[in-house]
Amino acid sequence: MPELVLTTIEDRIMKIVINRPEKKNALTMSMYSAMTSAIKHAEEERSVRVIFITGSGGTFTSGNDIGEFIQNPPSDESSPVFLFLRAITEARKPIVAAVEGTAVGIGVTMLLHFDLAYASDTARFSLPFVNLGLVPEAGSSLLLPMTAGYHGAAEMLMLGEPFDSSAALKAGIITGIFSGPGFLDAAWKKALDLAQKPPEALMLTKDLLKRKYLPAIREAIMDENKLFVSKLRSPEAAEAFSAFIERRKPDFTRF
Ligand code: COA
Repeated sequence: MPELVLTTIEDRIMKIVINRPEKKNALTMSMYSAMTSAIKHAEEERSVRVIFITGSGGTFTSGNDIGEFIQNPPSDESSPVFLFLRAITEARKPIVAAVEGTAVGIGVTMLLHFDLAYASDTARFSLPFVNLGLVPEAGSSLLLPMTAGYHGAAEMLMLGEPFDSSAALKAGIITGIFSGPGFLDAAWKKALDLAQKPPEALMLTKDLLKRKYLPAIREAIMDENKLFVSKLRSPEAAEAFSAFIERRKPDFTRF
């Protein structure tokens, strides 16, 4: 079986590739754990200057694996997904993302924590938490109104409609857009540029940029997690998950 998360260190960059293309790179508990380990390793390894995250097969990630939401939903702060969120929130080294194809749910909210996030011009984003009977996570209930304004955040989080790279840029979810087949190289070049900077100055700059907001982000994540964990076990979510598995439209009229 192929490894579902590929990690390599190249040019002082820890490269993490989400590698489950046949399932649109949907994330399982073991994949979150692998990514968390890679981030921790990058943080500890002096020679690594930057963390780079992308997906294989022309997709970033379709978010949490819905089958796992049904069978093995996260229960508390020690769940792999929440440990992954802590790892990206607390990382001292810069994180760069390259988003191609689909980015759904946590595939979008994780970008709000990264330092540089580039998308291809054909990428499609969505935040379908409400459509799944869930609530926003990863601090997005705090961060998205900060970057997109209240109305921008409410539209994305309440309607859950797909949006394109231009809208993601306007909402402050991504740093920039690269077009065409050179997209990945262009994003990688940005990571390479960071990897050549003085590392201490870079990490201190990141720390200064984030320091003032981190306590509020941690608190938002804790609040969201409690609701998220309870909503995962709700009848609304059960209907949404069954509808996804059965490839039909969910029916929320009885609630
Ligand atoms: N969890 C589990 N399986 C997923 C998945 C997810 N989040 N996203 C995609 N898959 C699976 C599909 O079930 C399908 O599996 P199958 O081939 O065994 O039937 C395969 O990946 C391909 O997906 P498909 O839906 O056929 O591709 P698409 O290009 O038509 O649509 C998406 C792609 C991402 C728009 C669509 O799959 C989708 O909406 N996925 C759910 C996203 C989601 O709600 N994530 C949770 C956010 S909290």
